[in-house]
Amino acid sequence: MKSILVVDDDQQMRAAMKEAVVRMGYQSVVAEDPVDALKKLEDISVSMIITDMKMPKMDGLSFIREARKRIGSLPILVITGYATVENAVDVMKEGVCDYLIKPFSFEDLTNTIETIMSRDSTCSKEIITSDENMKGLLQLTGSVAASDMTVLILGESGTGKEVLARYIHKASRRNKKPLVAVNCAAIPDNLLESELFGYEKGAFTGAMERKAGKFELAHGGTILLDEIGEMTSTLQAKLLRVLQEKEIDRVGGKQPVPVDVRVIATTNRDLQKEIAEGRFREDLYFRLSVFPINLPPLRERPEDIRLLAGHFAEKFSKELNKTISGFTAEASEFLKTRRWKGNIRELENAVHRAVLIARSELIGVEDFMIEVSVPQSAVNEGSIKDMEMDLISKTLETTNGNKTQAAKLLGVSVRTIRNKLNGYGKKFPAV
Ligand SMILES: Nc1ncnc2c1ncn2[C@@H]1O[C@H](COP(=O)(O)OP(=O)(O)OP(=O)(O)O)[C@@H](O)[C@H]1O
Ligand SMILES: [Mg+2]
Repeated sequence: MKSILVVDDDQQMRAAMKEAVVRMGYQSVVAEDPVDALKKLEDISVSMIITDMKMPKMDGLSFIREARKRIGSLPILVITGYATVENAVDVMKEGVCDYLIKPFSFEDLTNTIETIMSRDSTCSKEIITSDENMKGLLQLTGSVAASDMTVLILGESGTGKEVLARYIHKASRRNKKPLVAVNCAAIPDNLLESELFGYEKGAFTGAMERKAGKFELAHGGTILLDEIGEMTSTLQAKLLRVLQEKEIDRVGGKQPVPVDVRVIATTNRDLQKEIAEGRFREDLYFRLSVFPINLPPLRERPEDIRLLAGHFAEKFSKELNKTISGFTAEASEFLKTRRWKGNIRELENAVHRAVLIARSELIGVEDFMIEVSVPQSAVNEGSIKDMEMDLISKTLETTNGNKTQAAKLLGVSVRTIRNKLNGYGKKFPAV
């Protein structure tokens, strides 16, 4: 039987949590304070810890740090009041991504425990940074997360806007409800309205049934409007109304429908410029930018380049069963000086390929070369093919021509490799 450790100095809370845990079929281990809890962890192995943050003898954060040493990456659910969400960032750094914000119902508690216990990994992607600017920014984000404030995340492509949006949702009291993401750039203009607001039966040809829009699906939770800068001005006006009135109009609907949704919007466009050039409504901008967050590009975070490159190298080395231990001095210098137009996403991909290709324990600058040979501004069909070809041939070299192994390394099927090789035809006399 799996055990869950409950740590809270409040007798009533302890009793309620114990009851929830037992009712769900787990064994409960209860502690009144962190010192008591750490002592219990010496003797008993638990599958999860639920802990308050404000307790006598030791603060919640120190407790989490100590507990981590004993339970590894097992999940920790943090119970917190509004005010203490401010140290959400520090707590998150300890690998905590589950919060219950007081007050909550018995049902909230059991639902959360169930979600955590049925999940296979502890935390979804976390935000890795050692940059002072970023840390300050995350600190602020931590405190805004708990509110219902609209958040606008600005930043170049690949800077981590979506990761941050998901983090805000996770750290908010809406985290039991869905985060519904809509990529405004990916949906054709004429479909976006019904996608967002839904439609009534018969609203247009083909509308056989009533369909709920993303706003309705996000009710009680958060909607992530990705690439908001791509919205047409008609839709911008409609969105403004939703933000003001907290109700939506389904396409073909006669009555507005009230919705309770927190909006997080992102864009990689310069909205001030879009406003100046008449493409973005200023009034909508003011509504959205109640709390603007500017994610700095990677090239302005040299510490993070190093940290993230190391993180990705370790991750992919593990995934690909290799024994990469780091980068050569030359490679580190290369990473530091590159422009990283595609930011973290580009770095992640570059390191992924380098790990794949590297022949020794240290990744060298030559392992990044296939990327460098492609001008970043002009990636066309042809150069992508060349890159692909390069990658496949290099991988085949490392596997001594074994296609099954190469396919595994590249994360594609053998069939794909065969097709690609056939597609390149004569260009591949060697294999
Ligand atoms: N701080 C971080 N630590 C680790 N990984 C990160 C971090 N920030 C971003 N990433 C990773 O970088 C990639 C890009 O992040 P994300 O999709 O959030 O960027 P984005 O700004 O939304 O990009 P786009 O503008 O292209 O939509 C993802 O794979 C994400 O997991
Ligand atoms: Mg994005």
